[in-house]
Amino acid sequence: MKGKFFTFEGPEGAGKTTVLEILMKDLEKSGIEAVFTREPGGIQIAEKIREVILNKEHTEMDSRTEALLYAAARRQHLVEKVIPSINKGKHVFCDRFIDSSLAYQGYARGLGIDEVFSINEFAINGFLPDVTFYFNIDPKAGLQRIANNAEREKNRLDMEDLSFHYKVQEGYQQVIEKFQDRIIIIDADQPVEEVVADIKERLRKHIDL
Ligand code: TMP
Repeated sequence: MKGKFFTFEGPEGAGKTTVLEILMKDLEKSGIEAVFTREPGGIQIAEKIREVILNKEHTEMDSRTEALLYAAARRQHLVEKVIPSINKGKHVFCDRFIDSSLAYQGYARGLGIDEVFSINEFAINGFLPDVTFYFNIDPKAGLQRIANNAEREKNRLDMEDLSFHYKVQEGYQQVIEKFQDRIIIIDADQPVEEVVADIKERLRKHIDL
């Protein structure tokens, strides 16, 4: 039996990372074989690409270069980690995937959702998530959470102004419409335990929790 592929999306500071940490511990306790990973990153080559993309000094980076680097990191992570884990029967939980590129590069950077989808089609070769959880929160509240979290390092995209983050949210709305059958909207503006409970309830349809 193959594992399932779950991805987690949303604006900055939506709480995905915290929720995924709790889920990981809960699934471990239940003896469920799962792999928790992130994009860009999750394996050595993609973590190196992440450093290049998110480095605050790289202010000259062109938007298409940025989109291509995310797609390159995605490809390597997919073939080196995600697909082999799924083939071994493990469920994969990934913090961000293709929808981030569609919302951030496609819409907010203005490259076009369809254009960015097409370069990503080359990278993923038809491999889409079974389910995507979209963490719905006002970008302003998300950025406030980041500002209050001293441990979290600010990256190049966090430095963008509020209007960029509102554009990301608009981009996600279009992506959600495009992939209604795959994307589930989660209210991320509630206590973390509630967010975890909502996700677990949805997950029960796919895995024995
Ligand atoms: P995060 O690990 O804090 O989510 O940081 C990753 C950043 O990269 C975040 O600002 C979202 C951005 N991003 C894109 O713009 N496009 C992508 O395809 C991915 C995966 C992330």
